[in-house]
Amino acid sequence: MDESANIFEGRDVLLGVCGGIAAYKAASLTSALVQAGATVAVVMTEEATKLVAPKTFEALTRRPVATSMWDANLPHPHVELARQAEVFCVVPATANIMAKAAAGIADDLMSSTILAFSGALIMAPAMNTTMWEKPATQRNVRQLVDDGVVMVGPEVGRLSCGESGAGRMSSPEKIFDAIAEALRRSR
Ligand SMILES: Cc1cc2nc3c(=O)[nH]c(=O)nc-3n(C[C@H](O)[C@H](O)[C@H](O)COP(=O)(O)O)c2cc1C
Repeated sequence: MDESANIFEGRDVLLGVCGGIAAYKAASLTSALVQAGATVAVVMTEEATKLVAPKTFEALTRRPVATSMWDANLPHPHVELARQAEVFCVVPATANIMAKAAAGIADDLMSSTILAFSGALIMAPAMNTTMWEKPATQRNVRQLVDDGVVMVGPEVGRLSCGESGAGRMSSPEKIFDAIAEALRRSR
């Protein structure tokens, strides 16, 4: 992680944490980005808040975490969060958020912020192998890649559901490197 640390200094990174069990790994990524010098804002889906407390990310970033269109202390939360960020990384990206993003659905803060964001969008998918291999998910991934989204992973490995296969989220280190690369390109 150290090699690309300087690229983060003073840069604005938005992390979107969705409701997958790998949400806990987003905390390590957040910590690494903050330590590298990035200004990190975090938006969480309602489902993500059932797996990891927003307070974890608030403590790591020393900034409030936005979880709803209606509670965020911003007049147009999705637009303002999107406007401030240079890179937006959705980690973990659930099957649900990929389906919504591929279709342009904007029915909550996460999906609305994705739609309002015009910079480099990275997604790190994580899910059960059957969910990942389902034609609908693969169709959505192809659509997102066609639309310019950078996909990091998933990897093949042991999954929290007890199975082994494709769907394991890439390591925080690998996602960190993808964010560094996106920041380098967006200079
Ligand atoms: C314990 C638990 C773990 C889950 N893990 C995943 C996962 O890794 N990937 C996924 O796509 N969905 C997972 N789900 C299902 C999502 O939480 C569900 O589809 C939800 O609607 C996603 O909402 P979001 O995309 O707005 O965060 C999990 C659900 C539970 C209860």
